[in-house]
Amino acid sequence: MLTASIAVLVSGGGTNLQALLDAQSRGELKSGQITLVIADKPGAGAIARAEKAGVPCLVIPRREAGFEDRVLAALRERQIDMAILAGFLGIFSADFLSAFGRPVINIHPSLIPSFCGKGFYGLRVHEAALDYGVKVTGATVHYVNEITDGGKIILQKAVEIQPGDTPEILQRRVMEEGEWILLPQAAEIVSAEIVRKKESRQ
Ligand code: GAR
Repeated sequence: MLTASIAVLVSGGGTNLQALLDAQSRGELKSGQITLVIADKPGAGAIARAEKAGVPCLVIPRREAGFEDRVLAALRERQIDMAILAGFLGIFSADFLSAFGRPVINIHPSLIPSFCGKGFYGLRVHEAALDYGVKVTGATVHYVNEITDGGKIILQKAVEIQPGDTPEILQRRVMEEGEWILLPQAAEIVSAEIVRKKESRQ
């Protein structure tokens, strides 16, 4: 059976990478296969998760010269069909996205278009939501384009804010009820679409 070859890009602990790996093991992510992980930080916890799952992992530090060229070369060399930004905190240029020319999707821990764009990442997103006083937040998976968090939305899920929430408590709830469910579902949707296109070309 044809599958889409997936690269997952990470910067942090890698719980979203883990959700993707687990969905693949359970057969829920079946149209795509995770064949490469790229971490942009040498110490990222996600690296150990990739190694444990037996997925090749490259560390390409974002601050080093030629970062985008090296990522692009790695994606091309392994014939990657789609890239998933799973807690990846870098921002790719329009040139990179058009040179890759394949779907790139991202998970963001709020209901876009709230609390998104430049400077909104990780715990900062939840701090901002709590400061604003919103009663509902959530998670969004979207296509990546040249506008930060600005691409078309694939899936979105609301998560309630509860009295006494701290940014850390809220982050965990958004992950459990939102991100870890949505990201594998979106990966399957986009992979299935890639497979359909591959099949129609055969
Ligand atoms: C996740 O909450 C993800 O949505 C967020 O970083 C966290 C990474 O956790 N991403 C962004 O804020 C992107 N703008 P993880 O490394 O455990 O998956």
